[in-house]
Amino acid sequence: MNTEPEKINIQWYPGHMTKARRMIEENISMVDAVCEILDARIPSASRNPDIIELAGDKPHIIVLNRTDLADPVITDKWKSYFETQGATVLKTDAKSGKGVNAFVPAVKNVLQDKIAGYEEKGQVGRTLRIMILGIPNVGKSTFINKVAGRKAAIAGDRPGVTRGKQWISIGEGIDMLDTPGILWPKFESQEVGELLAVTNAIKTEVFDVETLGANFMLRLREMYPNAIKERYKFDPDPEANGFELLEEAAKKRGMLVSKGEYDIERMARTLLNVYHEGKLGRISLECP
Ligand code: G4P
Repeated sequence: MNTEPEKINIQWYPGHMTKARRMIEENISMVDAVCEILDARIPSASRNPDIIELAGDKPHIIVLNRTDLADPVITDKWKSYFETQGATVLKTDAKSGKGVNAFVPAVKNVLQDKIAGYEEKGQVGRTLRIMILGIPNVGKSTFINKVAGRKAAIAGDRPGVTRGKQWISIGEGIDMLDTPGILWPKFESQEVGELLAVTNAIKTEVFDVETLGANFMLRLREMYPNAIKERYKFDPDPEANGFELLEEAAKKRGMLVSKGEYDIERMARTLLNVYHEGKLGRISLECP
């Protein structure tokens, strides 16, 4: 794959991200546990190291969200991987609500010692507080809404939307604190940035869309060649570069700019949209 990880210098820490980080720092001492939401297709790239650091030694629940779009076999591998690291892991499709019912039992399980401690002190039924963390657009609001069973938090439709401090009571003695999504100050590599762009955590405009689409084609050829074959009706040539694969797909789709010249840029945008809509099948982009 020619997506050689290289150091890039995309600054992605506008003022509201600094504010968001501060909000998390100020509230972390108030919560009993943290729940980190990851995109199941890119659990490593969607894991902000700042969040891990901010969470400190609080009990940790990891939610692998968007499982409806991810490869189920790979999602199970990630679940085992995080479990061996000591986290409690849930698999959800917050959009449909699948898997979210496991949240309350998971909280009670992860905090059983704390609950027993409260009960010993006579504080039976003391409210448990969970901070919800995750990068922008990973599905935090959608998850909270589904767990709360009503439109408790306003779901933002654009990457990077900020929201104020928001506690949501979900009954059963549990309150959740919604936090604005934060990304890390600089992407570690071109590859991480691209994975965030193709999964809509950041705007694709950060990158050259043709390059993004071309590298995505290479990823598909390596991991899911059948997705190309089924959608675009050709066997990806193992020698072709990503742009050539885009051109081949554009040809199959009749995307001409002029006679004999194919619209690679349009093809790249279409490919990314089709992936976003789940029309290429269930595709994960990182393995543990
Ligand atoms: P955030 O609070 O973390 O910023 O994310 P938010 O809940 O606003 O969700 C961002 C988008 O992701 C929403 O889509 C939401 O419907 C979608 N989403 C959340 N969870 C899942 C999931 O498990 N599966 C799928 N397929 N989608 C999920 P949107 O803004 O309406 O736009 P679109 O992405 O649907 O086009």
